[in-house]
Amino acid sequence: MTRYEEVKTQLLNKQYTWLVTGCAGFIGSNLIEHLLKLNQKVVGLDNFSTGYQKNLDEVKTQVSEEQWSLFTFHEGDIRELSDCEHALTGVDYVLHQAALGSVPRSIADPITSNASNVTGFLNMLTASKEAKVSTFVYAASSSTYGDHPALPKVEDNIGKPLSPYAVTKYVNELYADVFGKTYGLKSVGLRYFNVFGKRQDPDGAYAAVIPKWTAAMIKNEDLFINGDGETSRDFCFVENAVQANILAAMAPDESKNNVFNVAVGDRTTLNELFSSIQSALNENDISYTKEAIYREFRAGDVRHSQADTSKAQSLLGYEPEYRILDGISKAMPWYVDKLNIS
Ligand SMILES: NC(=O)c1ccc[n+]([C@@H]2O[C@H](COP(=O)([O-])OP(=O)(O)OC[C@H]3O[C@@H](n4cnc5c(N)ncnc54)[C@H](O)[C@@H]3O)[C@@H](O)[C@H]2O)c1
Repeated sequence: MTRYEEVKTQLLNKQYTWLVTGCAGFIGSNLIEHLLKLNQKVVGLDNFSTGYQKNLDEVKTQVSEEQWSLFTFHEGDIRELSDCEHALTGVDYVLHQAALGSVPRSIADPITSNASNVTGFLNMLTASKEAKVSTFVYAASSSTYGDHPALPKVEDNIGKPLSPYAVTKYVNELYADVFGKTYGLKSVGLRYFNVFGKRQDPDGAYAAVIPKWTAAMIKNEDLFINGDGETSRDFCFVENAVQANILAAMAPDESKNNVFNVAVGDRTTLNELFSSIQSALNENDISYTKEAIYREFRAGDVRHSQADTSKAQSLLGYEPEYRILDGISKAMPWYVDKLNIS
């Protein structure tokens, strides 16, 4: 039995209360779906800045009526301390996902990103300490590696941030560490590396590459590659990220007050990604025959990224269940169903 199977069995036998911030977003909605399927009580907090009611409506269709009755939603903003305090009543575990993602968004508007990602984060930490939660798990980011050239990325070797977004995510780690030292708050930071899967938003200027390209291929629109296509990433299917969150919350105390890479340990170039999405869509009867259009590199982007996941493996028992191609083939039918207009 893997550690994840063991923890899921424990949870099926014992019900806790979890607060998932950013629950109407991509990763947050996948977290609530999995927790409800484990018969856990879940409180959600979201201000719908980049999340959607339709994501919550979809989760409702994926769980039983009884499981859905275990979910309570608070529409609120983590920039307001009182909203955080209100949502934290009676909570055992926090999975803090609410933030404004996207490097380009933070370059266009650093003040707004800072307000949710730093002020909002500090509000959540403070309110979690006051509420005496058992563990505060939070979404950190691989962008914290910044300009450090080493590959694969190992948690202790970070460089200088390359964007305002990366600064905000690094500040999260510093605050969480200090709250551990000064107030004894137990936390776990999960440095996600390019997470993808169902419910990741394909629309808007700040969409992530996999949903953006998938949508372009389904709609037969032009598709752009920033740079020469040899930029690489360690793409992580969302169910691996869900596993990491659940394991982090339930980890032994000596593994807490740490940050962990959450990915697979693979490296895929954008050129390879293009072909993989194209073939996965082909299997869903969608053929994209246009060539990708190459354009300038994007400011603030790291050139290569690949995680060393051994720390998460040894301290959390993390074993990613999906490599990129498995994840892409699981995610494509969802996009085809939601976006196919023909
Ligand atoms: N998706 C990735 O590849 C990736 C990589 C690294 C880190 N992350 C981090 O993971 C977390 C979740 O990302 P996601 O991809 O699901 O993004 P998302 O935009 O789909 O979800 C974020 C959610 O947070 C909510 N939110 C934002 N600001 C808020 C505020 N002030 N108050 C209340 N709710 C607020 C949004 O409405 C949205 O529902 C974020 O912290 C992000 O920085 C994501």
